[in-house]
Amino acid sequence: MTKKIVINIFVFLVILLTIISSLIYFNSKKIILEYDKNIEVFLNQELFNTENIKIKNGKILTSKELIDTSKIGEQEIVLEIQDYFKRKKSIKYLVNVKDDEGPKITCEKVIEVEIGNEINLIENVLVVDNSNEEIIPTIKGEYDINKIGEYNLSYVAIDRSGNKTEENFTLKVKEKEIKKDEDSKNNLNNNQTFTTSKGFKGIIKDGITYINGYLIVNKTYSLPSNFGSSLTKETMENFTKMQNAATLEGLNIYISSGFRSYDTQKKLYNNYVKRDGVEAADTYSARAGHSEHQSGLAFDVNIINDTFANTPEAKWLSSNCYKYGFILRYPKGKTNETGYKYESWHFRYVGEELATKLYNNGNWITMENYFGITSQY
Ligand code: DAL
Ligand code: ZN
Repeated sequence: MTKKIVINIFVFLVILLTIISSLIYFNSKKIILEYDKNIEVFLNQELFNTENIKIKNGKILTSKELIDTSKIGEQEIVLEIQDYFKRKKSIKYLVNVKDDEGPKITCEKVIEVEIGNEINLIENVLVVDNSNEEIIPTIKGEYDINKIGEYNLSYVAIDRSGNKTEENFTLKVKEKEIKKDEDSKNNLNNNQTFTTSKGFKGIIKDGITYINGYLIVNKTYSLPSNFGSSLTKETMENFTKMQNAATLEGLNIYISSGFRSYDTQKKLYNNYVKRDGVEAADTYSARAGHSEHQSGLAFDVNIINDTFANTPEAKWLSSNCYKYGFILRYPKGKTNETGYKYESWHFRYVGEELATKLYNNGNWITMENYFGITSQY
């Protein structure tokens, strides 16, 4: 009897011990998870999906990846995890992308206008926001275009998150000048004439500048935003002739970028500004209204980068394009004249006569130097 009791107590103790040690064991292997159910980050902030998760006695099965924080708003992140006993489950959390940075405004600090002249103050302002959204600025302050004076105004740009930026500028409404024959910057006066520093006659007709009959587009002289729709017939016909001649030499030339509208150029330039900043972008990309691509007379061929210069096609074009009426518009070492870096791929139609003069037996003269004009914003 006593022996039986002892055995029973022993069995009971063994069972109890087994239960207790199992409990301790399972408890020590229990998954421990710590993570925020709501995370706030700023636009374009770098955040990995597995960051902010603390896990013990288990692992995250979802691979580590960057969360797309390029758009404002909430998104749900789902991760798959596995515990010590290889049991899987999903966990979820929210990432809220916020923006606290205002848009950047680039504008002229002083704008001059003759009394009574309509002016679009928004046209030449560049607003770039980190959210990539297009933001049209508004004007703060009052002015009267029919009253001479200096008006202190500002551009105001607000992004979708309510971040606001203001940039001051002065609008000077001046007396009407009677300009008959002087070099001037492009404006929208009808039929304004001027003489260049080299004695060439210029005329601005409805915002389009012609010097000696040649349409001029550079940093100084712009085109109206509604100008142009395609490469001109003459440009295309002469390009085809040049292309055929190149083919006979075993060379392949093709247009990679032809006509570009004001809006296309605006987007292109704005993207470069976002990538490299205004100062750098201005060395290789024209602002909207200032690109020769909008004129329908210019195009880029083949590879649009510096590697093109060393190809047989680039060499042939540089020595032969003038025969078809084309010029290498931005030659090497002429940045201070053209306003742009060397572009071995950009050609402009001017007709054989002027092209031959500018070719200058291989020592290219720029349009700016030839006509005696500037290329500056
Ligand atoms: N790359 C030339 C300058 C343009 O943007 O028109
Ligand atoms: Zn070009």
